[in-house]
Amino acid sequence: MTAAPARQLVQFGAGELTDRLSEALQVYVSAMGYPPSTARQRRALWLDHMRRPGWRAVGWIGAGGDLQGIAYGYAGAPGQWWFEEVRRGLLGAGGDPDGWLTDYFELTELHVRPDAQGRGLGEGLLRALLAGTNRSTVLLSTPEYRDNQPGKAWQLYRRTGFRDVLRDHRFTGDSRPFAVLGRPLPLDPPVAR
Ligand SMILES: CC(C)(COP(=O)(O)OP(=O)(O)OC[C@H]1O[C@@H](n2cnc3c(N)ncnc32)[C@H](O)[C@@H]1OP(=O)(O)O)[C@@H](O)C(=O)NCCC(=O)NCCS
Repeated sequence: MTAAPARQLVQFGAGELTDRLSEALQVYVSAMGYPPSTARQRRALWLDHMRRPGWRAVGWIGAGGDLQGIAYGYAGAPGQWWFEEVRRGLLGAGGDPDGWLTDYFELTELHVRPDAQGRGLGEGLLRALLAGTNRSTVLLSTPEYRDNQPGKAWQLYRRTGFRDVLRDHRFTGDSRPFAVLGRPLPLDPPVAR
């Protein structure tokens, strides 16, 4: 008899993620170390994102039916807040916005519950999410790291070939510095471990 897998990687439709939204937001706040009130604030935004063209979501479901990781994104397009913020940053840095912003998938959220981190779940989400985007590049933003200590997110992005698009970028309304990272699609095959 084969043992049941500890968890399964699944693709979510908008209805399925809506049904699990409280749990998904809980994964998000616990992974990011945000206060629980952030989950309530983000709820409407996540629902709004589900209606955008190219929206896709994947998650890890544990053997007990619990959600252990969540990732989603959608097709970037002019008029979206994030598109315009990155465009402003690229223009300010003397970059060519058209080079990156014409046909990208925005990787909006990627989170693994703290007790499930460090086992390759994040990379599994990233690969599954990006495998079906029909876009030529992927872009994401992530907080800059301090004291020369890139965390798990940075390690994952570098390992999977993301390079710098913008560094120390300030999004409107957020005083923290962010990096915008990107790479062409499709992703390279996984490196054997
Ligand atoms: C960033 C995040 C999603 C990464 O997920 P994760 O599952 O912890 O990380 P990974 O998929 O990279 O895990 C890989 C680690 O698992 C280990 N691992 C064990 N078995 C593995 C396998 N079969 N395949 C891949 N990695 C494996 C590796 O040692 C690797 O460690 P390394 O990064 O030192 O090389 C997660 O840490 C997280 O949610 N962090 C907080 C929220 C956050 O920062 N989100 C991103 C915001 S932009």
